Amino acid sequence: MPGIDYSQKIPNNVDLKSDKRLQRALEAWQPNYIDWWREMGPSDFNENEIYLRTAVGVDREGWAHFDYVKMPDYRWGIFLAEPEHERRIGFGDHMGDPAWQQVPGEYRNWLRRIIVTQADTEPASVEQQRLLGHTAPSLYDLRNLFQVNVEEGRHLWAMVYLLHGFFGRDGREEAEELLERRSGNADHPRILGTFNEPCQDWLSFFCFTTYTDRDGKFQLLSLAESGLDPLSRTCRFMLTEEAHHMFVGQTGLGRVIERTCQLMKEHPNKDVRELGGIPLEIIQRYINFWCSSSNDLFGGEVSSNASNFFSAGIKGRANEAKLDVDHGATEGVYALDVMEEGRLTKKEVPLRNAMNEILRDEYVSDNEKGIVYFNKILDKNGVDFRFRLPNRRFNRSIGIYSDFHFDLQGNPIDAETWNRNSPDWIPSDEDKSYVKSLMVPCHEQGKIAGWIAPPAKGINQNAFEYEYVKL
Ligand SMILES: [Fe+2]
Ligand SMILES: [Fe+2]
Repeated sequence: MPGIDYSQKIPNNVDLKSDKRLQRALEAWQPNYIDWWREMGPSDFNENEIYLRTAVGVDREGWAHFDYVKMPDYRWGIFLAEPEHERRIGFGDHMGDPAWQQVPGEYRNWLRRIIVTQADTEPASVEQQRLLGHTAPSLYDLRNLFQVNVEEGRHLWAMVYLLHGFFGRDGREEAEELLERRSGNADHPRILGTFNEPCQDWLSFFCFTTYTDRDGKFQLLSLAESGLDPLSRTCRFMLTEEAHHMFVGQTGLGRVIERTCQLMKEHPNKDVRELGGIPLEIIQRYINFWCSSSNDLFGGEVSSNASNFFSAGIKGRANEAKLDVDHGATEGVYALDVMEEGRLTKKEVPLRNAMNEILRDEYVSDNEKGIVYFNKILDKNGVDFRFRLPNRRFNRSIGIYSDFHFDLQGNPIDAETWNRNSPDWIPSDEDKSYVKSLMVPCHEQGKIAGWIAPPAKGINQNAFEYEYVKL
């Protein structure tokens, strides 16, 4: 297994130089990517040296190298996890067959659609976050933002390699379109709803990296099981990078909560707003919004597409190979809560049709762990408040719950009750403008904004005070 070849224009561990046609196609796409980065990537800061990690190998240990880099000079490349010896398809109708090294003709359209949909989220998130550098609460946070941004750019490269390498002319056209759609653009939006939502303050950024990047984690886990081996290996390495994005989100929210608790303790009789902190209720409402929006990303609860993808062996369950279950999933049923005559009742659906919901189950339980972490911070500070995860039926725009209203616990409610309560449940204009008012940059080395606590430690064993960005 060759390591990563950095002597090439496009760093890679797929021996790109032995496939001249593919190499030329990707090298032709590269300047278009850089143009897109300069136009739609982080606004400003492209001439600053940022302390970033770059992949130097694909082993679990020691895969990353840290150094100062200007973002446009970041070595975006194509890195696949090591192949598994004689890997076989682990689920669906082709279970036991050798994994495919090429795209099977009959599944070409489905696979292209899955890859394009995943690919589209990567540049979208960079676009959504492009203005945040101007209001970063510290150099540490500024660096983390840019780390996430360059790695989302790399994830786009990962998917574009698959499109160029395995889908011929169609794939090349899709790769061009990935640089043409724009997050939030009414005429030419990104494919999925959440990736068109504005993300213009740091509380939203931390919620996005907690809840939306975690959707990404589960999509990647299910695609890492794919019978298409290059897709599986691509996703396995992306997961290594993804972990840091969720760390940024989870600890970021934790630090906002920590700071609010400190202010509450120091001034028990004051509104934290007077002290420049973010009230816990507002944090909860931001969580409610981003979590419910990200729930939609898993798709409909009952889905023939999901069934087809599973049957075909192209998209499995998260950690399918490690699960002690019937990997064919031909016989089981899933008991789903459905609305009938204004009430929730259980209805059994064939297991294969419930694959989106099964993946969402895993996502919800991961999110629950995050809430436990937030509540521990409250406990430690002796604060009574409790964070709660909104029920998966809350505030949905996709799937069987989207035609109805539900409260935070998932109970059906009428439109009038929704309208009356929703300002307490999702961020109001007032919440947003208050949070926005706190978003002033703190770019001085070793300093931090007043609405967030410093991290417990810095990056790569450096202190929080380290010069993560040279301004
Ligand atoms: Fe990503
Ligand atoms: Fe990510």
